[in-house]
Amino acid sequence: MSKVVVVGSYVTDLTARTPKMPRPGETVLGGPFQMGPGGKGGNQAVGAARLGSEVTILTKLGKDLFGDDALNNFNQEGINTSYIIQTKDEATGAALIAVDPQGENMIVVSLGACGTITAEEVEKLRDSMTDADVVLLQLETSMEAIDATIRLAHELGKPVVLNPAPYQDISEELLAMVDYITPNETEAEELTGVRVTDEKTAGEAADKLHQMGVETVIITLGKKGVYLSNKEYDELVAGVTVDVVDTTGAGDSFNGAFCHFLSEGESVKNACGKANIAAALSVTKFGTAPAMPTKAEFEKLYHEVNR
Ligand code: RIB
Repeated sequence: MSKVVVVGSYVTDLTARTPKMPRPGETVLGGPFQMGPGGKGGNQAVGAARLGSEVTILTKLGKDLFGDDALNNFNQEGINTSYIIQTKDEATGAALIAVDPQGENMIVVSLGACGTITAEEVEKLRDSMTDADVVLLQLETSMEAIDATIRLAHELGKPVVLNPAPYQDISEELLAMVDYITPNETEAEELTGVRVTDEKTAGEAADKLHQMGVETVIITLGKKGVYLSNKEYDELVAGVTVDVVDTTGAGDSFNGAFCHFLSEGESVKNACGKANIAAALSVTKFGTAPAMPTKAEFEKLYHEVNR
């Protein structure tokens, strides 16, 4: 069974439907509200586990109701929770999310406990990481944890997949130890200074990331799919068109699925194509972790697309 180790965030998502995004100082009467598991690390872990990977997550929760809920959810998803830390010192994080009628979102995330993961806590993952096929992380935790995770995975010779979201400054020394990077257009611009608007500019941003030492660059382009660039490929891997309900967590679905398929031995291009299908399925449902597709849902759409 493919083994994926995820280091990163868990927060509780507090999501409101809104007829329009509020302007600064404005209050908008919203629609239905939903509370559920979220955080990019947690979402990506669920995304990989639902497709069949054996997933271990390191994150940090408060000793509170949101934290207890998170542990229950991860256990129900069959994710290894033995490296999850619950602390009395911080509350479990939360994200305030607004989703408009087009399914677009705005998010403010307060990391709380998961923003305080330490290098010592990452070091405890050594045995589990030794066994992993892929190590996946985001930028939604402390730079100390990000630094320690990349160094440990690199030392152990494990493929490192970095989803640089939300953007934080990261050193070129760390980037040079990353094997796969998966920014969206905005994060690609923040990392490289190149405004990504089409395939040509995606290629230019990818070249800059190669110069920084990242071998494989995958720029996610929403419904268009992803731009894949490494020694073998320089091309768009097309996305799948679906009816959009909520785009929140689509990138997380892509990353979790990409790591699942990569660790199953798929080529990077096939892993991107299959992860595009998972991401498309995730936007057809409201919410983030709860919207990650199951293996059966993935296979149904995969066969429809490839008929
Ligand atoms: O990528 C979506 C996630 O970003 C949400 O679940 C929210 O928690 C924020 O971290």
